[in-house]
Amino acid sequence: MRRPFARVLALAAAAAAIPLVSTAPATADVVIGGYPVEISESPWTVALSSRDRFGGTRAGQFCGGVVIGRSTVLTAAHCLSEEVLGAPPRQVRDLRVVAGRGDLLSDEGKEIAIRETWINPRYDGYTNAGDFAVLTLAEPLAASSVIRMAGPEDAAYRTGTDAVVYGWGDTTSGGDYARALRAARVRVLSDTVCEGAYPGSADGTYLAGSMLCAGEGAGGRDACQGDSGGPLVAQGRLIGLVSWGSGCGRADSPGVYTRVSEVVRTLGAGR
Ligand code: ARG
Repeated sequence: MRRPFARVLALAAAAAAIPLVSTAPATADVVIGGYPVEISESPWTVALSSRDRFGGTRAGQFCGGVVIGRSTVLTAAHCLSEEVLGAPPRQVRDLRVVAGRGDLLSDEGKEIAIRETWINPRYDGYTNAGDFAVLTLAEPLAASSVIRMAGPEDAAYRTGTDAVVYGWGDTTSGGDYARALRAARVRVLSDTVCEGAYPGSADGTYLAGSMLCAGEGAGGRDACQGDSGGPLVAQGRLIGLVSWGSGCGRADSPGVYTRVSEVVRTLGAGR
């Protein structure tokens, strides 16, 4: 017969094994749980860069952005915050948009100066509501780089819709930033799911109407740090900008995106 002490040890070993198994993400690697994509497949995905602020090893990439007009790029408001840049944006002299470059270490595509920066004055750094900003480029991109934004009634916002998020962000939640562009497949989740996950916490508060909830029920696929401002695309239209979340790719903590219909409404009303 086994002695009780040995039984306790055996149970402890079994219990210890559980977290080890469950913390190994099922499909860890974007963006989290992603795959490499060619920039030519998503020419509207751009990188925001400042070598002064973020160093030159990855061309200074620190956020994503989306081309919504030949000279207009949308990004997250929080990407241009002093907290991220370490200085007000106007003091960051080498702030640029890198377009047409999938591999940050290559010299494909071009680096374009920014002529004007508009940060949504209604952005709320506490809830994260209104997390978008508009950059006007010093020179226009090709019309083929522009993606259409989904308007308020667009079917692409419906719960269950397949969507893809793109970025050069952390692929493991451990600070392993991608060198080349990646994408992850997620699904539009109901507002109820994110309202339940984010009723109001240090990370933010989910507000249906101005935010969009997306991920995978079981976790595994998600955006992560460094992907902010980048696109969430469904049915060929832009539906979200990477904004926030709690950790990355965790079950029960979906990704929260700026709802693009809210951007369309704001810009349509003359900002
Ligand atoms: N705030 C992050 C950034 O600045 C994006 C976080 C997205 N997180 C998530 N789990 N989807 O890059």
